[in-house]
Amino acid sequence: MKKSDAFVKKDDLAFLEIAGVENENPKVKTFYFEASLNAEPGQFVMLWIPRVDAKPFGVMSQTGKARGGFAVTVANVGAFTKKMFALKKGNRVGIQGPFGKPFEIPKRAKRVALVAGGFGAAPLAFLAQRLRAKRVGVVFIEGARTKANVILEKRLRSLGVDFRVATDDGSAGFKGYCTLLLEEALKKEKIDAVFACGPERMMQAAVKICQTHKVNVQFSLERFMKCGYGVCGQCACGSKLVCSDGPVFETRDLPELVDFGKTRRDASGAVMPL
Ligand SMILES: Cc1cc2nc3c(=O)[nH]c(=O)nc-3n(C[C@H](O)[C@H](O)[C@H](O)COP(=O)(O)OP(=O)(O)OC[C@H]3O[C@@H](n4cnc5c(N)ncnc54)[C@H](O)[C@@H]3O)c2cc1C
Ligand code: FES
Repeated sequence: MKKSDAFVKKDDLAFLEIAGVENENPKVKTFYFEASLNAEPGQFVMLWIPRVDAKPFGVMSQTGKARGGFAVTVANVGAFTKKMFALKKGNRVGIQGPFGKPFEIPKRAKRVALVAGGFGAAPLAFLAQRLRAKRVGVVFIEGARTKANVILEKRLRSLGVDFRVATDDGSAGFKGYCTLLLEEALKKEKIDAVFACGPERMMQAAVKICQTHKVNVQFSLERFMKCGYGVCGQCACGSKLVCSDGPVFETRDLPELVDFGKTRRDASGAVMPL
């Protein structure tokens, strides 16, 4: 079977060669795979490195369905991602997916805002790709600590999005929180819907701003996952399971997401503050 004929599925583990690796910055890399994955923006795959762990990663891009490839963008933060960073073109990883509930593109949306913090820019880049293919105008607001931490800018600009950046130290774009750029956009521009992915406190602020401006917001939650299948309960946020009810939620789900912006579970399952 040719590599490009491989299909990644939810119920089967595919063991795929890494087709390419791109450095986004010293802490973030994009891994490319030459296999078909029938994912929607916001869905994730479980990557498995034998004798290390299996962890969830949002799909960053996808080309074609019958042939073509997909990519995930990984931030080096701990044991699994450190091992992932040591892998090179030609090395193999186990992949299963896609999992989870994707972002929903409102039928009549003409112009939307995407707000990203950190690696949250990755799943939103896939959403931007899909939105631009449907000729929806996209304001892409990315927040990062410094200019060096901004990721995927070139890729996003090439999609024709209105790219705006906010950094904590002002080394690129607006100095301050990316949520302030969102607030400004909602005050001055016609924005039909908002999509957010990033640190939970940032998404909490984005949700509040959207509620004030009466704009629907979809946001992608991150929780420590073990099974990815809705079995172990590790990823619970209130009465919802992030792996199977999410990871994408929206304003109407808030009454059930009682832990949103407050607590999460660590690897042992213990509840801890965010
Ligand atoms: C749906 C979903 C999509 C994701 N998409 C991406 C992606 O596109 N790119 C990407 O780089 N990562 C993504 N992640 C996060 C990724 O799965 C974790 O960063 C990864 O599990 C870290 O594993 P590790 O062993 O390297 O680090 P660990 O050793 O598990 O953790 C390293 C540090 O991060 C903290 N941490 C780990 N998980 C969480 C958490 N859920 N909430 C808060 N703090 C946490 C730990 O407390 C520790 O301080 C996603 C997670 C989910 C749930
Ligand atoms: S990760 Fe096991 S239920 Fe969600």
